[in-house]
Amino acid sequence: MNPFLHQSVLLNEVVHHLAPKPEKRYLDATVGGAGHAAAILEASAPTGWLFACDRDGAAIDAAARRLAPFAGRFELRHMAFDQVDQWIEPESCDGVLADLGLSSPMVDRPERGFSFLLDGPLDMRMDCRQTLTAADVIRDAPVGELIRIFGRLGGEPRARAIARAVDSERRRAPLETTGQLARLVERIHPRRGSRAHPATRVFLGLRLHVNDELAQLDRGLPALWSCVAPGGRLAIITFHSLEDRQVKQFGNARARSYTCPGALDIPELRQPRSPDLRWVSRRPIRPSPEELAANPRSRSAQLRVMEKCHAS
Ligand SMILES: C[S@@+](CC[C@H](N)C(=O)[O-])C[C@H]1O[C@@H](n2cnc3c(N)ncnc32)[C@H](O)[C@@H]1O
Repeated sequence: MNPFLHQSVLLNEVVHHLAPKPEKRYLDATVGGAGHAAAILEASAPTGWLFACDRDGAAIDAAARRLAPFAGRFELRHMAFDQVDQWIEPESCDGVLADLGLSSPMVDRPERGFSFLLDGPLDMRMDCRQTLTAADVIRDAPVGELIRIFGRLGGEPRARAIARAVDSERRRAPLETTGQLARLVERIHPRRGSRAHPATRVFLGLRLHVNDELAQLDRGLPALWSCVAPGGRLAIITFHSLEDRQVKQFGNARARSYTCPGALDIPELRQPRSPDLRWVSRRPIRPSPEELAANPRSRSAQLRVMEKCHAS
């Protein structure tokens, strides 16, 4: 039995848009439980090749087991995707996938510390070789920093009150478990009706901060794009609006038929050029009603697909 159970989201849509073929090369930059990776290897049999990586060591072990039937056709590495350009030849992959966020085993194992429903240490590291944990942040971050983490990153409207409550609580006794933090948030933000758990946004902000996820994506998008061959595609699945905005801005900047010096787009300063990127789907692709019913964790998933233009 495989104890690493993750249901891949938008699986058919990813395979449809990457259209894997024999002899071609692919990169799965967030291999997780290897559901997408196995589908890419199956569809590109018998000679398609897959590079695959993940920040989570447990995912790499699970992927190695799941992909064993495809031995000789893939290479796995335990690394973050912002480094892939130091591993993979430029413009050598026909399809690249990044399916962001957490795998189900990360959320479902209390010892990983991602869940406000299961009591465990406040850990939240995607890569356990990293030293900074959520408990370190909750213990050491100044109140202003906690407000930014809960509010700007997590989108929590009561960030200020929660940060102050964390500060007064940690002066009394260490806050070291997910249960302690979830109960503290619930005290300030009592649960009403069937809305999301009141600690959802605080936990999201903390997790994004501990793993530096937005900066990872900022550095990762150009690194992933550099691996895509002309005519090849980059598919990105995001789970919240800050990530999706980064992906959209990245794509839009390359899809334009001009460049502009500096950060501002000033029409008089535009220089014409041929775009480097074509959006395959203008709008993000969402899970079908059937997928949403079968896998509620897919509800916030959005897939965007970009194609690298041939040099003109
Ligand atoms: C939603 S899961 C991927 C599931 C996978 N597509 C499947 O079919 O099983 C997301 C994975 O992305 C990994 N991850 C998140 N950010 C990463 C990064 N910057 N570099 C590499 N892996 C990352 C997480 O560790 C997690 O395993």
